[in-house]
Amino acid sequence: AEKPIPGGKEVLVEFEDGIAWVQLNRPAKRNAMSVGLAREMNEVLDALETDDRCGVVVLTGVGEAFSAGMDLKDFFRATDGLSDIERHRAYRSTRAWQWRTLMHYAKPTIAMVNGWCFGGAFTPLICCDLAVTDEKAVFGLSEINWGVIPGGVVSKAISTVMGDRQALYYVMSGEKFDGAKAVALGLANEAVPKEQLRARTAEIARTLLGKNPTVLRQARMAYKYAREMTWEQASEYLTAKVDQTNFVDPERGKEQGLKQFLDEKSFRPGLGNYVR
Ligand code: ACO
Repeated sequence: AEKPIPGGKEVLVEFEDGIAWVQLNRPAKRNAMSVGLAREMNEVLDALETDDRCGVVVLTGVGEAFSAGMDLKDFFRATDGLSDIERHRAYRSTRAWQWRTLMHYAKPTIAMVNGWCFGGAFTPLICCDLAVTDEKAVFGLSEINWGVIPGGVVSKAISTVMGDRQALYYVMSGEKFDGAKAVALGLANEAVPKEQLRARTAEIARTLLGKNPTVLRQARMAYKYAREMTWEQASEYLTAKVDQTNFVDPERGKEQGLKQFLDEKSFRPGLGNYVR
């Protein structure tokens, strides 16, 4: 029997040819992220990791928003009244999916920013491997505008993709910016017109689906871990990771690539993928 589709309440999942479209589904609240949404998202991401219908995750929003950030009512005001332990548990659910899980997810992830993207939404945006945005989407580190600092892990997350001058400008001014600017700032790979957003995102996803999935996973992980290391550590770790990747790859990709290039002369690695 086919597995049930995960989510269904504040997170919707649609499968399409290896792509799992994971949608924040609180459009009436501009997909502001509640505690319930976090709990459901943890279940969804956990389920998709071992679901063969999912080769790539696309994270996006239903309606006119990607996400208007943390839900100021349900995540902040409501949890302020809880016991310290209950509040810790609520915060932990959010941390889990927004960065811990996404950053080291076993499958490639693409954020598709379809509209409003504020504050806490920057964390899952940045922790997806890639991001494509509607050129007219509106972004903002709006925390300062309502009297808080970019908390959660937002200040840390933005420092991994934005330069200090740019990050501090938006942290301090709370000024909004559009999708084209988000690309210039390093927050997204590409900005496209709204009508091309889904097709372009699917095209990138299909490119990823064409790659050796074991090597793709190891390449993403290696990059993310190596950037935290010294040169000495990274060099040693990455050399070992090449061997480990070869060892765990059921497809024996490296052997295939070498054979097709060196012996058969049937492809050029600089110009495309080996035949799988
Ligand atoms: N938290 C809680 N509720 C929210 C949030 C949010 N972050 N964003 C929107 N909503 C709710 C509104 O309260 C409103 O609810 P109601 O219909 O029950 O009154 C509904 O969503 C629609 O919001 P509007 O403001 O009417 O929608 P509009 O399309 O005019 O504006 C916009 C959209 C610009 C996104 C606006 O809602 C907004 O500024 N939201 C807050 C953005 C923000 O600064 N988020 C916090 C970032 S900081 C952090 O995440 C830690």
